[in-house]
Amino acid sequence: MTTDGFDFRTPVDRWDTHSAKWDLLAAPYGRDAVALSVADMEFRTAPAVIEAVENAAKLGTYGYTEVFDDFRRAAADWQRRRHGWNPDPDDLVFFPRIVQCVAALANFIIPDRTGRRARVVSFTPAYHPLLEVCERAGASIELVELLDTASKARIDFDALESAMTGADLLLLTNPHNPSGRVWSRQELERIAAITRPGGALVLSDDIHADFTRPGGAPYTPLADLAPDLWEAGRILQCASPGKTFTIAGLEASAVFAHGRIIDELENAKRRLGLHNPNYFAIPAAIAAWKHAERWVDALNETITENIRAARALLALELPEARVADPEGTYLLWVDARAYAPSAARIEGACRASRVLVTPGGEFGEAFEGFFRINTAMPLDPLLEALRRFSRALASPSTDLIN
Ligand SMILES: Cc1ncc(COP(=O)(O)O)c(C=O)c1O
Repeated sequence: MTTDGFDFRTPVDRWDTHSAKWDLLAAPYGRDAVALSVADMEFRTAPAVIEAVENAAKLGTYGYTEVFDDFRRAAADWQRRRHGWNPDPDDLVFFPRIVQCVAALANFIIPDRTGRRARVVSFTPAYHPLLEVCERAGASIELVELLDTASKARIDFDALESAMTGADLLLLTNPHNPSGRVWSRQELERIAAITRPGGALVLSDDIHADFTRPGGAPYTPLADLAPDLWEAGRILQCASPGKTFTIAGLEASAVFAHGRIIDELENAKRRLGLHNPNYFAIPAAIAAWKHAERWVDALNETITENIRAARALLALELPEARVADPEGTYLLWVDARAYAPSAARIEGACRASRVLVTPGGEFGEAFEGFFRINTAMPLDPLLEALRRFSRALASPSTDLIN
């Protein structure tokens, strides 16, 4: 079956492709294991992107490439058309990966500005690699726990306000991974208001921005909503085609920023030894942003249907679990503490079912007994794997050791 002529039903066999999700993480569970874990999709990307990569491959010589204005324009146009924000293409710094931009801030830019280690504030649960690079840079990290993450996550604004006192950097993720919240304009206004008095930077990691439910909560880039902070150079607005077009392995992201921070980012990139992009990164990203809009619409319809079906299955199989209804992302965040009093129980269910989910503890200590799944895969194998995992989790006989 196809959606608008695009195929989101045919499984793609990714074993033996050096895939981190399959060949590294799923392999210990056996060849019939199914990975619902890492956030990359099990769909083939848009035809226009495949064509761009194939054309680039056909050349047969893969030397160094550079970032030119066509990349900047394509990135800025995508923001304008899809998200109603109109950045200047010159306000763009290329990074292969968003995590590297956070590393640049924590290792170089903030310590250079302040003469001491960075003080970082993040919400928890959080995508851990963003925190890990800060920890490894010696930064102090203050965590603000989100409330009700497995229904409609809420920000404790009092806790945020006190955490931001003296902070250098707020890490914001919009839409939020793992809860799937798309922060509303009111919530973003309050975040901006809390950030305004100090001098802190805000890095808005919006890598999941293109995944929203048709007719559902609209995504707003923070930079569009807080032009004073943007003009003051205090917002790093991170966009990426990596998740949207399942090209994370090609490594292209677009960090929009304004003023002197642009030179600081470019300088930090040099200190990290990040010179040229991957050969395929630029043509793939340009083709995606210029020619694959209809594919993204069809993809969002498919994911919305997958999420609906996965939630219905979980309601039947794990009736005591609480399951978020994500406004964005393709991720489903489940509070399964009624079945999993400890992290070992989630792990045991993965082993027994040979279905990998991401244990909640990977997103923060307080979330053991939660799990996250990725719904961006053909529906039948998704439901089959989720059923297998849920039954193992619910079964009192599931072995916690093997
Ligand atoms: C919120 C979030 N940020 C960043 C990343 C990784 O992005 P990159 O590979 O560009 O560092 C992910 C990947 O799952 C993510 O979920």
